[in-house]
Formats: sequence, C-alpha cells, structure tokens
Amino acid sequence: MFQHVEAFAGDPILTLNEQFAADPRQDKVNLSIGVYLNEQQRIPLMGAVAAAEERLAQSFHPHPYLPMAGSPSYREHARRLVFGVQAGEPLADRVATIQTLGGSGALKVGGDFLKAWFPQAKVWVSDPTWDNHKGIFGGAGFEVGTYPYYSRETHGVNFDGMLAALRALPAGDVVVLHACCHNPTGADLSLQQWHDLAKVVQERGLLPFFDIAYQGFGEGINEDAYAIRYFAQQGIPLLVAGSYSKNFAIYGERCGSLHVACKDADDAAKVFGQLQSAVRKIYSNPPGYGARIISTVLDDAQLRAQWEEELTAMRVRMKQIRAELYAQLKAKLPGGDFEYLRVQQGMFSYTGLPVEQIRKLRNEHGVYLIESGRMCLAALTSVGVTPVANAMVKVITE
Ligand code: LMR
Repeated sequence: MFQHVEAFAGDPILTLNEQFAADPRQDKVNLSIGVYLNEQQRIPLMGAVAAAEERLAQSFHPHPYLPMAGSPSYREHARRLVFGVQAGEPLADRVATIQTLGGSGALKVGGDFLKAWFPQAKVWVSDPTWDNHKGIFGGAGFEVGTYPYYSRETHGVNFDGMLAALRALPAGDVVVLHACCHNPTGADLSLQQWHDLAKVVQERGLLPFFDIAYQGFGEGINEDAYAIRYFAQQGIPLLVAGSYSKNFAIYGERCGSLHVACKDADDAAKVFGQLQSAVRKIYSNPPGYGARIISTVLDDAQLRAQWEEELTAMRVRMKQIRAELYAQLKAKLPGGDFEYLRVQQGMFSYTGLPVEQIRKLRNEHGVYLIESGRMCLAALTSVGVTPVANAMVKVITE
C-alpha cells in the first residue's frame, strides 16, 4: 500500500538538531536551531514563567477546549504586544487576532486563509529566508517566489534590489517580511528603509505578511515591532505571525498569534470568522497551558516587569557573545571579514562560510551550523566562544 511513499529528505534545521542529539561527542556545540541557551547550555526557565507556573499549580484548573480563536485574554495581550494598542482604540478594533500553535501555526493558518480568499496571489519570500516559509506557503497551495534581500558584500540588506523586485509585482501578491532579527541573516532594514518600503507596498497594492518570531531580541519589544506598527498606521492591510517561543523561552508550549489588520472593524469581524474557520479545519482549537502562562505573566505588573528585565538580559548577552566572537576571530585572523557579527541583529548571523567548511566544522570539530551558513549565536556560551572561534579559524585557513 505505501510502497510508493518517498523517503523524507529531512529538514535542514530540525533533522540536523536530531543529528546533534545523537552525536556522542562531549564537546559538541549546537549553533544550528534557533534556541536561546544560558551559560549552563540549557534553555532557561524564565523567572516570570516559573512564578506564573507556580501560581497556576496552586489553583485548580480544569482543561476545557479553548475557543477556535484561543483565549480572549491571551489574544488581547498578543495584539497589544505587536501593535502597541489597547482594546477599544481604533487600530485595535480593525485587527483580527487569534491564538495559534507557535509562529509556524500562525503562518499556516494565515496561509490557508489567504489561499481561500486570494487564490490567484503568489507569495514572495526574501532570498534567503527561514527554510520553512517555502514549506508552509507551498503547503498551503501557493506558488512561492523570492525577492533579493541579502548582500554578501555588505552583510546587510540589498535594499535597492529588494525594492526593484517588489515594484515589479502585481497588486495583491503577498510579501513575507521579517519584522526584526531576520532569519537566517540577522540583517534588518533601517527605519528609513521601512518607510520607503511601506510606500512601495502601498503604491503597488501588495499584501505584507510580517513574521515576528524574535520580538525583544533585536533592540527591544517596541523597537522590534516598529515596522508593523508603522505599516498599520499608514492604513496598509497586513498580516502578522507572532511567536512567544523565544522571548518567553516556552518553545514546546507552541504559543503564537496571528493578526490581520483590516480597513475597518466590519472587515476585521469577517476576517476573524474566517480565521476561526481555517483553524477548525486544521486543529480545531489551540492548547491552553502555554496561553495561561503568558496571560498570567502579562496580566500582572510585577511579573511583566520581571519578564521584560529577563528578556533584556538575554538580548544584552547575545550582543556580548557577538562582540566576544568578533574580537577573537579578528585577533586570530586579522585579514578576515567578520564584520557581519557586529552589524547583524538577534539570534542569527550569516557567516558566509561555504558548505564544505560548515561540514568540516560539524564533522571534525562538533560545531553544528545549518548548511546555509547560519549560526545561532544565542546558543553560544562565553566559555564556548574560544573553541568555536578556534574551529572556525581552522576550517577557514586549512
Ligand atoms: C529556527 O529557525 O531554527 C527556529 O525557528 C526553529 C525552527 O522551527 O526552524
């Protein structure tokens, strides 16, 4: 019956992560998957999250189905975090928000919703992008194309190339944008570039779909949401896939949100209904536990302040690790170009190392990066910097 089923080629990120887990070497380092590790090389249990869990453990909670759209209080917090607006403000009233299974779930529900109501559209993702963008939108039935994004020369954004490509797209096409901490390159647009891009999107009648999986990991919670808020204030209809996996270190609880900013509250009500319809067809309703944790933290001024402090500490540490790795590489290989470590943002940097060197790093030194050359700096500890720098120098100079 199943003889014709083809073998799974594996996922460039998740399969490599499994390979890492099976690697018996004691000194291996996993810089592949986008996960933040503390100095003990563990995913941190944030103090605010632990306190919320303790509160939840002390109160009796049954486990009902959540509504298709998820927990109302969670949805309200999610909208406020992304758009910076309170319930009842005009912008809030025209945003339809649902709770989703992580950021991936938000992209999937958004993709299915768009395919149902914009069947002719094509989806455009940055070159390069998070590998699974193509999988999710392709899986929703879209033809997926790429627009130029990364410049290997500047380690930044090829903004002219990006704008020229987007200017040539037909109205109604969907453009996937990384609101901050671009995955995989760490190269973000400047504020002025976001303004210029908003103009092109508006003139061409394109539909932006923002992915914000790293809010708080770039410059701050509000700063990282700048582009989304700016576009929404210009009245541009848009979608947003948000995630709490990284900024609450709550990866396995699958806490995300999907927002659709519409022209007015009437459109938002219809869209909200159709998002629920899409959810019902995929998984019926989202899980409750993670949503309770998030709501407990964000409902309580003290826990919220603690969470923000802890998030700031994570961001600062990632920047220090970048600086340390840069300093060591520069000292060991003064002629090398490691500027990318200083200019890129968030968890990831794009090393530009060729795939043979990435494989050598893995096979000979136990240092795992994904084959595109993306390095997750958030998983590097200060004691890990020296061996990783040494291994990089070795594979570069051999
Ligand atoms: C990543 O980019 O490594 C993370 O977002 C994890 C994933 O699901 O790919």
